[in-house]
Amino acid sequence: MDRLADKVALITGVASGIGLATAQRFVREGALIAGIDLVEPDEQIQQSIGCTANACEYFSVDVTDEPAVEAAVAAIKDKFGRIDVLVNSAGVPSFGLTQDVTVDEWDRVMNVNVKGSFLLTKHVSRTMIEQKSGSIIHIASVEGLDGLSGQITYGTSKGAVIQMTRNMAADFAEHGIRVNCVCPGGVETPMTAALNDESLKAVKEQMEALHLMKRFCQPEEIANAVLFLASDEASFITGHPLVVDGGWTAGVTLTV
Ligand SMILES: NC(=O)c1ccc[n+]([C@@H]2O[C@H](COP(=O)([O-])OP(=O)(O)OC[C@H]3O[C@@H](n4cnc5c(N)ncnc54)[C@H](O)[C@@H]3O)[C@@H](O)[C@H]2O)c1
Repeated sequence: MDRLADKVALITGVASGIGLATAQRFVREGALIAGIDLVEPDEQIQQSIGCTANACEYFSVDVTDEPAVEAAVAAIKDKFGRIDVLVNSAGVPSFGLTQDVTVDEWDRVMNVNVKGSFLLTKHVSRTMIEQKSGSIIHIASVEGLDGLSGQITYGTSKGAVIQMTRNMAADFAEHGIRVNCVCPGGVETPMTAALNDESLKAVKEQMEALHLMKRFCQPEEIANAVLFLASDEASFITGHPLVVDGGWTAGVTLTV
């Protein structure tokens, strides 16, 4: 299939989880990949993305560092000549009740989850405005829609990402740029791997039970939704939080 044939896709958080699964899916659809992550580039990551050296560029960048983001975006533009799709998947989790969260932790999470996606969009959008086209997808979360104890910092950051999606959609519509986000429920990635520890089994089971489908999904199930929003099939969709949550936010099943 060639749903992204010859499109250039910049993906943050590309070394792991949803970012990696999205890069792999995009490569199978013909995209050229520019990947960004904190993790240093190595052959294994490039190989697992599945593209040839010519069709793939990897940058070790902290998404909260504006000069580094600006330089990486310029280098990507130089190499590929354009940027058609931006996927902001870099993110960090956080746990803690409101009364316990430190300001340092609050700032760390807001910096990566909110400011990072803002900075990438700020710099990539300039290229997309010149091109008069582009599709931007942030990875938000159902936790930006629903409250959950111990998730004040993370949930608030994801709520901000959902609102940022709407504001950016309004800023860029006249330039032919669509901005959407995906709101996943639980996803089996390194971010949630700690929940598989025996000591957190009860928490994992409670979280699985929040989904009508009673399970976490695989990162590929999120990548499929990102692909749809990135592709021309979503040509009239902008400012939309696409919920991919196995029914978490739909309601509850009563046992009778
Ligand atoms: N896993 C889930 O259950 C789940 C659910 C909803 C939303 N999300 C969101 O999906 C996105 C991807 O999560 P994941 O589960 O794939 O996590 P992950 O931990 O597997 O991958 C996140 C990647 O982001 C990178 N990263 C973190 N901080 C960075 C920074 N400052 N600069 C550059 N790269 C950085 C990490 O190195 C890592 O490779 C995140 O935004 C996360 O909040 C995850």
